Amino acid sequence: MASKSEESQFLARESPEDLQVARTDGNYLFDVEGKQYVDFLMGWCVGNFGWGNLVLLEATALFEGPDYVYPGYSYAPWNELASLLVSMSPGSLKKCFRATGGSEAVDLALQAAMLHTGRSKFVSLEGSYHGNTIGGLSVGASEYREDCKNLLTRCYKIKPPLNAKSLARVETLLKERDVAAFIMEPISINLGVLIPEPEFMTGLADLCRRTGTLLIMDEVATGFGRTGTLFASEQFDIEPDIMCVAKAITGGLGGMGAMIATAPVAKSMEEKGHFYSTYGWHPRSVAVAIAALGYITRHSQRLLKDVATTSAYCRERLMAMPFKKPASFRIAGLAIGVDFGDESHAAEVQAKCRHEGLLVANEGDSLLLLPALNIDRAVAAQGLDILERCI
Ligand SMILES: Cc1ncc(COP(=O)(O)O)c(C=O)c1O
Repeated sequence: MASKSEESQFLARESPEDLQVARTDGNYLFDVEGKQYVDFLMGWCVGNFGWGNLVLLEATALFEGPDYVYPGYSYAPWNELASLLVSMSPGSLKKCFRATGGSEAVDLALQAAMLHTGRSKFVSLEGSYHGNTIGGLSVGASEYREDCKNLLTRCYKIKPPLNAKSLARVETLLKERDVAAFIMEPISINLGVLIPEPEFMTGLADLCRRTGTLLIMDEVATGFGRTGTLFASEQFDIEPDIMCVAKAITGGLGGMGAMIATAPVAKSMEEKGHFYSTYGWHPRSVAVAIAALGYITRHSQRLLKDVATTSAYCRERLMAMPFKKPASFRIAGLAIGVDFGDESHAAEVQAKCRHEGLLVANEGDSLLLLPALNIDRAVAAQGLDILERCI
């Protein structure tokens, strides 16, 4: 096994954790020493259907397609996947653009918004994360701008909470009609499961429509059932012009992202855009994504019912826990934020949980629980029992 110093000698790491992964199985992760962890992180919304899901594994094992397809050629499974994605997507999203992951999908969305509107400014949420490309960082938290100095384009920030007051600020920002798009996660997992007030979302959609500003919903983390509906956008009275997806689309078995746009936005992008992607929608990733979307479609009723039941169970258990520091809960399906209002306490509880065999994330003041959507009650209880011992 590589020592810590050997490991960091050649490989750059961001916030490295001292966990050497050996394998995953169901709702568990095992380290190289054989220690078992209940996985309430699932790679941050990647393993929505559990690790080792047989439907997804079978799709990779039985794959007999080409090693690779040049982006200029045609490949029938690309069309099949695009048509599946469009049929599942909310509102009037009609056309898919291929990407290798969430950051590239967001970058394509920004490009499409600029080309379609002829504008270059954006508005996003303060503290948000939309990927690690220069485009993604440009519309993310202000600290990225402070670190990188000259990011791409002007991006105004809206500070949560998302209510009538913040909507008034959006109105001021959009009234010059020079903003290409408002980009956000409809329920922000990266902000500790921040749930906007429905009036904010309806008002935002209305303001965007009136000022010719596009609405980009980044569903990279929330997509595919995480928040209790197939896409979190469905929980609000909005129709996005663009949606970005990635992560759970392959359940972790392949890299993939997609930018999905309405017909007019897609037309602008097809006419003027640049979206060649060498590894965008690799044949193996496509095979597993088709299997994953088939799995979701076939089991959507049961899957979403299970999410609601497990979510209610987690809420009930959390409400009854004797937290040492007062905690508030932000719960949307199986995106669960436990807010301590204290960053170092959240980090302390996260580390303690890991020591005791439970993987959770800490994001700012909050602890994040993101278990698989099909987790069974006994394993959910096992994880929550560990959490209860660590608070
Ligand atoms: C909301 C959101 N957008 C975009 C990204 C970037 O996705 P990727 O890491 O696949 O490039 C992430 C990744 O965590 C994300 O959470």
